[in-house]
Amino acid sequence: MSQRKTIDDLFVHMLSDIYSAEKQLTRALGKLSRTASDAALGEAFKTHLEETQGQVERIDKVVEATGIRLKRMKCVAMEGLIEEAAELIDEIEKGPVLDAGLVAAAQKVEHYEIAAYGSLCAIGKQLGHTEAVRLLKQTLEEEKATDLKLTQFAEAAGNAKAGKQA
Ligand SMILES: [Fe+2]
Ligand SMILES: [Fe+2]
Repeated sequence: MSQRKTIDDLFVHMLSDIYSAEKQLTRALGKLSRTASDAALGEAFKTHLEETQGQVERIDKVVEATGIRLKRMKCVAMEGLIEEAAELIDEIEKGPVLDAGLVAAAQKVEHYEIAAYGSLCAIGKQLGHTEAVRLLKQTLEEEKATDLKLTQFAEAAGNAKAGKQA
């Protein structure tokens, strides 16, 4: 049944969704880091794992700043993206080809997060959640920087090596 939904409800829903997404990622990024053959790529995943832990804490601060209560829910989109990464890990042997696949899977994750935080910032601004928006923007910038770093991996070592191996 549809309920009357306000823009405040939507903000809570979206924040609860990304909270679930980040928590799922704290588990998945560890696996990506251990699976990557390229040391620098493994290190990049590890760095983003640490950032992601900080992002979860940052959402706790957003909750404090706004006084909202998060809903218990699962981000099914992130569950699917992580599942697709797990499929690659099952199907491709460790090496440069799998590394290229991991980069692609991780970029899909970052793009989802960039969309989610971008929308949260826009709606939060509309609602006058100044402090929340300031915090959410910090995370948005971290996600963008991670995406950029992954693009560099995709364009440089990973894909070049993957091509040579074929
Ligand atoms: Fe994140
Ligand atoms: Fe991220």
